[in-house]
Amino acid sequence: MVDLSGVLGDRLENTLAKARKLAAQGELPAAAVAYAQAAKLMRQYAESATSAEVKKKRLADAERLLAYAEQLRQGKVPAGGSDAARIGPDNEMTPDESSYVENARGLIRQAKVSWDDIAGLEDIKRFVKESYALSLAKRPEGVGLPRAANLLLYGPPGTGKTLIAAAISKGLEATFFACKVSDMLSKYFGESSKLIDAIFDLAEQMSPSVIFLDDFESIVADRDGDSSGAERRVLTELLTCMDGFESKSSDKLVLVVAATNKPWLIDEAILSRFGKLGYIGLPETQARRRIFELHLTKKGYQVAGGLEDFAARTEGYSGREIEQICKELVRTMISRANPDLADVAEKGKQALKDYTLRTEAIALESLDDILSRMRPVTGKDDLRRYEIWMERR
Ligand SMILES: Nc1ncnc2c1ncn2[C@@H]1O[C@H](COP(=O)(O)OP(=O)(O)OP(=O)(O)O)[C@@H](O)[C@H]1O
Ligand SMILES: [Mg+2]
Repeated sequence: MVDLSGVLGDRLENTLAKARKLAAQGELPAAAVAYAQAAKLMRQYAESATSAEVKKKRLADAERLLAYAEQLRQGKVPAGGSDAARIGPDNEMTPDESSYVENARGLIRQAKVSWDDIAGLEDIKRFVKESYALSLAKRPEGVGLPRAANLLLYGPPGTGKTLIAAAISKGLEATFFACKVSDMLSKYFGESSKLIDAIFDLAEQMSPSVIFLDDFESIVADRDGDSSGAERRVLTELLTCMDGFESKSSDKLVLVVAATNKPWLIDEAILSRFGKLGYIGLPETQARRRIFELHLTKKGYQVAGGLEDFAARTEGYSGREIEQICKELVRTMISRANPDLADVAEKGKQALKDYTLRTEAIALESLDDILSRMRPVTGKDDLRRYEIWMERR
């Protein structure tokens, strides 16, 4: 059987949007006609319901729409609008579907990262800023400009991939969906494709949106074993959603930003869906200096000597590791500058409240001490692997 509910749902939604707009403009007779049409569509929509319960609800909604149309026709606009004005196809979802929408909503995060919080990575920052600015700026009459490209960020752990996705979102004032693909697969098993669908729908409604797919390589099947049906379904659904959005001539903006540490696991067919593949490597000296600055001096801590020495000694460490190093440096400094702190703590809360913490400059020797205990997670061989992959493409 052909599933008409999607097509009908779209028509219903469009008709309702038109009706609401007319009502908002005070064009009551025209709005009444549109609401009556929507009621008719809602009745057809009820016929395509998959359960008696949903059908009943849709029929009731059709009645309410019709009643509302009649009120509008008579020039009576209910004070504060009417419930009927908020009816829509997405209210008619089965409880099962609506829980996916709720879960999709639960993935929305407030993106707080701004471009200045990200050290280095100048090329990719510029590319992203320009191409995404392009999608929001006013276009010259008659000029067709390309849409902003979906982006795949790859590189070693802790280098700023998540930061970039968040900064894009903040820059666009977009709704930010933070999806960890591995979690989605493990929590929803065979049902993750429904979640994907719900995320894209919601993202379109709440446009502009950024859908961030972290751990992206988990979406492809394990090379050794059989790909599980669940993964394949999710992948198919994701590609369908991405392609579907691409082909719509909608003025809405939904960007997919994916991130992975293992790009070589991803098939060519999937890679081709991304307009831009961006390598996010380990921070260079200047970027490391900036990360130390962000986590130490900008937070009010003094550094003995200068940050240059700190940056020079930490080649090979990722941004995340440098952040950890900074925390450790601060802890060491506090404990050194306040040798009596543990004793004061024993005396109780009041004694602590009366105690003023002392700080001192963070010494380079402390850094050396920490570095001797903490090796970078990403080694030369790992970096080579990214290079080889890039060269082969
Ligand atoms: N370029 C950078 N500038 C400033 N801080 C950074 C940078 N890279 C990493 N950091 C620090 O490390 C933390 C982790 O970075 P982020 O989450 O972006 O890494 P990631 O590349 O997404 O890692 P993973 O691949 O493990 O998900 C950040 O919260 C930040 O404190
Ligand atoms: Mg990340």
